Amino acid sequence: MLNSAVRTHTCGELRASDAGKQVVLQGWAHGVRDRGGVTFVVLRDRHGTVQIVADERASEAARDVMKDIRQEYVVQARGVVAVRAGRANTEMVTGEVEVVVEEVVILSRTRPLPFLPSEHTEASEETRLRHRYIDLRRPHLQNSLVVRHKAALAVRRYLDSEGFLEIETPILTKATPEGARDYLVPSRVHPGQWYALPQSPQIFKQILMISGCDRYFQICRCFRDEDLRVDRQPEFTQIDIEISFAHREMVMEVAEGVARAMWKEVLGYEIPSIPQMSYDEAIARYGVDAPDIRFAMELTDLGPLLAGNEFAPIRSALDNGGIVRAMVVKGAGESTTRKMLDAWTLFVKAYGLGGLLYGKIAENGEVTGPLAKAFTESERAAVFAASGAVPGDLLLAAAGAPHQVNPGLGKLRVQIAKELNLIPAGMFAFCWVLDFPMFEFDQKNQRWGAMHHPFTSPRPDHMGWVGTDKMGQIQSDAYDLVCNGSEIGGGSIRIHREEVQQQVFAALGIGPEAQKEKFGFLLDALSSGAPPHGGLALGFDRCAMILTGSDSIRDVIAFPKTTSAQDLMSGAPSPVDRDDLRELHVSNTVSN
Ligand code: AMO
Repeated sequence: MLNSAVRTHTCGELRASDAGKQVVLQGWAHGVRDRGGVTFVVLRDRHGTVQIVADERASEAARDVMKDIRQEYVVQARGVVAVRAGRANTEMVTGEVEVVVEEVVILSRTRPLPFLPSEHTEASEETRLRHRYIDLRRPHLQNSLVVRHKAALAVRRYLDSEGFLEIETPILTKATPEGARDYLVPSRVHPGQWYALPQSPQIFKQILMISGCDRYFQICRCFRDEDLRVDRQPEFTQIDIEISFAHREMVMEVAEGVARAMWKEVLGYEIPSIPQMSYDEAIARYGVDAPDIRFAMELTDLGPLLAGNEFAPIRSALDNGGIVRAMVVKGAGESTTRKMLDAWTLFVKAYGLGGLLYGKIAENGEVTGPLAKAFTESERAAVFAASGAVPGDLLLAAAGAPHQVNPGLGKLRVQIAKELNLIPAGMFAFCWVLDFPMFEFDQKNQRWGAMHHPFTSPRPDHMGWVGTDKMGQIQSDAYDLVCNGSEIGGGSIRIHREEVQQQVFAALGIGPEAQKEKFGFLLDALSSGAPPHGGLALGFDRCAMILTGSDSIRDVIAFPKTTSAQDLMSGAPSPVDRDDLRELHVSNTVSN
């Protein structure tokens, strides 16, 4: 019987050279057309699409079944491959041929569907996520899954060839601080005790080095309860790497090798040599520590040129230890509308800035707009010279605290480049950012925090400054890999001496008791023969986003969460029975 027949070809396989072959195809009805009693159905599977047709050559039974087919029905057809009578359809890889059906079976019907899986569906993202099984049939998402698979294989092949072992680490574990909140799991067996889901395998991979594993990697899941964005998910995947007896360049070389393997496998693209810049340089030129270097529009410091300036926002920033920085949008003086400037002002206000200072530069060099009266004649000349502004340009400036001005202008730079199409299509611009500050001062809680994580080693020559008044000047042996303005990886050389680790914990306000309670096992391991080691983790989802040209991380994850951390398809998170909670020794303060 046809029903038990095995498909002979996928829907993307048939070509003119297959003409005359008897084939069995199975797939989803992508499109159905009836032309004067002849029914055409385009069948689709992950490999492509192919047309089947029931004309006068088909049995009456087959023609009747074909007429009954609706979009997204699952269909099996047996027939003969024929070269299309008319012109080939160049939009389909199988467009030279069609299959003239002899027998057709509907394997599965659909209820009325909320949307059809066409590439340019108008369905809202909420509807698509709720019915992810339909959404995933869309070519872009199918491609994302293929890209992830290929990239993961390329990573495994490359790291295997470099002598790395893939080792799994626990999911039910103790907290590993990476700067986010933990997801916690109550223990039934140990009342009142909790596991934490790993924010990363950081401590375990270090312990694997102490265990003599030498070169570790894992394509692993990490869990972070943090505010979500287009490139952040609460559970995401890292390519996690650790190397014994490593120095910075060694880890960076392996990370580049991993990136090269992925880009080559998926896109056939050879990543050229990757430039490096210090954290200070990144902030000075681009305002952010993950700079998008696909376009220029770099920031300029105006403060030193405006020491005597009396324009209120500038004066007040400079008097309060702040900075004044600017960027020039080339040739945009005329074309930038009031509406755009209002939107950009709102944009920078989100970073705590009072507003955006702007000036359009007229042909005679006059500045119009809020910056019109900001500069004296000589200041204006100095500002133009330093920023490269010329008539016809738009000058944008911000004054305030560095932690407002830098990210405000830095992110606006990228926003404007996107709006004005200044970013060349299909370009990949990688860079390394090095020499990060080791600690950052948390104004809210009035204490020092680790910029990377507390296991990162200070630069050897700055080691002696830990716990002194030079905390703010200590640089760490950390490095980030950036592509197209997205931080796709980060890592560091680790502390491998117990006493240094204790010192760093103490500088972070983690006292001896808390050290023992939270990290006793790491400290014990460090004092049991720890090799110098270092590593890094690449954000696999972010790499997949760039490789597939996706705007959202949700487009490269089969079952992603919304920005409010919900899985709309399964309905997670969801309430649990009081009895289940009781068994877990958890009392629910929110009524179900
Ligand atoms: P880090 O916290 O920098 O380092 O993470 C490494 C990389 O993981 C990606 N990433 C994320 N991707 C999606 N959603 C998220 N919520 C998310 N958070 C991070 C980023 C980032 O560069 N243990 C250290 C690594 C190490 O030191 O070896 C760590 O996890 O691309």
